[in-house]
Amino acid sequence: MLPAGAVRGGWPLPPCRTGGPAPVLTPGISCLQGPGFGLIQFALMSSLRTHSALRFPHRHLLGIKDLSATDIDQILDLADSYVELNRQVDKKQNLLRGRTQINLFFEASTRTQSSFELAGKRLGADVLNMAVSNSALKKGETLIDTAMTLNALRPDLLVVRHPDSGAVELLSQKVDCAVINAGDGSNEHPTQALLDALTIRRRRGSLQGLLVAICGDILHSRVARSNIYLLNRMGARVRVVAPPTLLPAHIDRLGVEVFHDMRAGLQDVDIVMMLRLQQERMHGAFVPSLREYYHFHGLDYEKLSRAKPDALIMHPGPMNRGVEIDSEVADDIDRSVIREQVEMGVAVRLAILDLLSRNLPANSSAAGAK
Ligand code: MLT
Repeated sequence: MLPAGAVRGGWPLPPCRTGGPAPVLTPGISCLQGPGFGLIQFALMSSLRTHSALRFPHRHLLGIKDLSATDIDQILDLADSYVELNRQVDKKQNLLRGRTQINLFFEASTRTQSSFELAGKRLGADVLNMAVSNSALKKGETLIDTAMTLNALRPDLLVVRHPDSGAVELLSQKVDCAVINAGDGSNEHPTQALLDALTIRRRRGSLQGLLVAICGDILHSRVARSNIYLLNRMGARVRVVAPPTLLPAHIDRLGVEVFHDMRAGLQDVDIVMMLRLQQERMHGAFVPSLREYYHFHGLDYEKLSRAKPDALIMHPGPMNRGVEIDSEVADDIDRSVIREQVEMGVAVRLAILDLLSRNLPANSSAAGAK
């Protein structure tokens, strides 16, 4: 059921905010080349300690559009440190000990849900996964009722994915805990954009000045929207490349250049981000056939040759090989960072849970602390 205040499939177009230059915070330890484990361990702990003094000025993470360039840098710096934690044998921390994290997914997810689960467990939280097929919502309960029921379970952190744009924000107004948007309709998927940014930053050093092409089903994509906000804010230039049927009206108002032709759109870009055709959100035919779509808009080596020779290939997954991307291109170990994106997903979610938990009341459950 669409909750009051939610927008199904909406692409409302607020004016595009651009941030000033980001202050340089303490860099993560990914650049350290320690000869031994002890040194790496020491560097990791001191890096996490350095970041522990920082305060994140948000109670929830609902979207990238609420974040400043400073907020984004802070998340990415901390996530950089967590990449090192994830590569250690002992990945366990105590930061969320005693806290309860509920992952509430009204839509299927593999990567996002499992990485939030791992991140919560690595920080020591009790993590409960609730899938929609098991929830009372199937029996006709409204989103608000579900929120109130969950609130009574006194979670500290609630990670929510919902098919309706705006539903996660609405839910955040009804519960006492910190809420993280794990994707709402075609609105936002903030942790995906953050993990994309972390992947790019670790490969290229900075997002500033990069030329990024986001290609495919922009119309139905929350990933596209969050990435457009983030990349603009961090000083990258964004192109969207799609047939007119897969672009929202007035997309140019979000500060992007619009292309319908892949070869023109990929010319000289640093990053190629491919998107899946989101058929579950399509009502009607948006492309003549999958074969024709692949011919004109699928990423193959011929179209990729227009991009810079070292351009990175990205995809949030799940991929449809032979529809939006050629299988060999997707697996090209010199160009594709698609698996690295999955690894960065855990680090970014660790950083978000860490930062939001700093704003939770210290000695009581979040419930009642509104
Ligand atoms: C999403 O949840 O939006 C995914 O990460 C991207 C997709 O489903 O294509």
